[in-house]
Amino acid sequence: MDAEKAILTRRSTRRFLNKPIEKQIIDKIVEAGRYAPSGGNNQTNHFFVITDQKVLEKLADIAQNAFSQMETYEGMYRSLMTSITLSKQGNYLFHYGAPCLIVVANKKDYGNNMADTACALENMMVMTNACDLGSCYINQLKWLNEDEQILKLFRSFGLKEDERIYGAVSLGYPDSEDGLPNRKQAEIKGNQVTYI
Ligand SMILES: Cc1cc2nc3c(=O)[nH]c(=O)nc-3n(C[C@H](O)[C@H](O)[C@H](O)COP(=O)(O)O)c2cc1C
Repeated sequence: MDAEKAILTRRSTRRFLNKPIEKQIIDKIVEAGRYAPSGGNNQTNHFFVITDQKVLEKLADIAQNAFSQMETYEGMYRSLMTSITLSKQGNYLFHYGAPCLIVVANKKDYGNNMADTACALENMMVMTNACDLGSCYINQLKWLNEDEQILKLFRSFGLKEDERIYGAVSLGYPDSEDGLPNRKQAEIKGNQVTYI
């Protein structure tokens, strides 16, 4: 698949099969993230590639517990409100049960931390599409990036004292009729362009 097609047909997939992704495909996707541009060519993204189902379950538990203790308010960012509401109901799986979650951390005192992370995440989502797998950007761990339990867990994996999580992506074989990722034609109504 060429770059244009991989970019234009990438859509979010939120239903995944309980089927592991081959290591060489994961490596290819992670490499796409590592090749993303970074401010000042700093290359301070730190990728945590999680395929251990017990860790994915533990993360989902910690996140659900943390969100269930928060309160919603009028005008709150809709997606955060959904995370809180579903967590209070006790059935929230923020990573959609995908077999692989790639979490990206960066330096907490670096001004381009989220921008660099987002560039890496987009590269990985486009590469995932080119590999005929599905992906979805996952923001919940960024919202919980000062949560003590999450910090403790990631520090046990090697997260450094000065690093925090800024984004993540769920990946997997899509649970779809044709086995392919969601490639529904995107309807672009916003994203204004001004030519000068
Ligand atoms: C910064 C950012 C955060 C996002 N967070 C989430 C998320 O936490 N969960 C989710 O299901 N989708 C998330 N998304 C995916 C968007 O909802 C999705 O990209 C958007 O609705 C457009 O749909 P498409 O990806 O299918 O084109 C996020 C996307 C971005 C860019």
